Amino acid sequence: MGRPVSVEDYRRIAARRLPRAVFDYVEGGAGDERGVARNRAAFERILLSPHALAEVSRRDLSVPFFDRRLPLPLVIGPTGLSGSVRPGADLMLARAAARAGVPFVLSTASTSSIEEVARASDGEKWFQLYVLNRELADSLTRRALDAGFRTLVLTVDVAVSGRRERDVRNGFGIPFRMTPRFFAGCAVRPAWSLAQVRHGLPQFGNLVSAEAKDASSQALLMLRQMDASFSWDDLAALRERWPHRLLVKGIMRAEDAARCFACGADGVVISNHGGRQVDDTPAPVDVLASVRAPEGKAVLVDGGFRRGADVVKALARGANAVLLGRAPLYGLAARGEAGVDEVIRILEAEMDNTLALIGCPRAENLSGEFLA
Ligand code: FNR
Repeated sequence: MGRPVSVEDYRRIAARRLPRAVFDYVEGGAGDERGVARNRAAFERILLSPHALAEVSRRDLSVPFFDRRLPLPLVIGPTGLSGSVRPGADLMLARAAARAGVPFVLSTASTSSIEEVARASDGEKWFQLYVLNRELADSLTRRALDAGFRTLVLTVDVAVSGRRERDVRNGFGIPFRMTPRFFAGCAVRPAWSLAQVRHGLPQFGNLVSAEAKDASSQALLMLRQMDASFSWDDLAALRERWPHRLLVKGIMRAEDAARCFACGADGVVISNHGGRQVDDTPAPVDVLASVRAPEGKAVLVDGGFRRGADVVKALARGANAVLLGRAPLYGLAARGEAGVDEVIRILEAEMDNTLALIGCPRAENLSGEFLA
């Protein structure tokens, strides 16, 4: 393949660079993976309505976001175990996000620690919290606060882990299970294997400190075995304890979004976890249409964003910004940190092109008027 020019090109290269089990971990979804496909297919049904003869000689992709502007309406979303794609992945994603001026969300299940990521860049960093148990959640939140993270993203769509059959078939887990199948996958991907062996195999970076180092937490995190009793009262209590911005990720109903706002959340992320949890939900970009943020609050969305035009459509439907999950990981797998820069640049160029062609020079002016 020549120079990759689209996120899909990067996806194809990622498939060739990663061992099958790792690519499957990134790519896979729950059950029959209809949700993964539906997230993408939703964009085919949302059509743009170009306005003729608008003055579009200068375009502006920046959008207002709480008390500041984002230069692009993008956030690098949380992806656990990204070090299985490439050693140092979280640091690379954080630096690439900082270069683009967009926030990076560090997963609870990251392979680098909160403190390492804090040191990696001066960019804006958010911490995504999984409540495995209350003590660990308190300790992670405190560490994030101490390390300078000022936005907490509570993920609520993982009361239990989704059933991802690719991972079950491949026996994918941390530590890597050295099965003949896994070895066979590594043998045909020598560059990946060498890098992993050189660096030391990935582990959960946030759970290897003296405080959090216990095998049961690691196992719980691998199984994504959350405290399934966490409910609305606990959200309100977390709101009381966390002194800065709080977003709730994994909301799929307008009523739940309203309840999050009523609890004091500053924003919600409409998300079905990239189709990795419940297989048969609507696409988040379709749910978005029914959710409105009260004044001063934000609605973000993720799931299936692979084109700049997808982002434009979500903004036209009322999103304040879009989280990227798999797209940056494709760039990372293909070309490391430069690949993440390139994926962001591709989306930026596509957004700019789309804005010009639909006659909307400013991303912040997108509205339903630009949808057919
Ligand atoms: C995820 N996602 C995720 N979400 C979260 O809140 N915490 C996490 O640790 C992870 N881990 C994770 C790993 C991998 C490999 C993927 C692909 C996804 C979900 C992620 O934040 C986001 O919601 C979806 O990935 C969005 O869909 P797309 O952009 O991947 O289609």
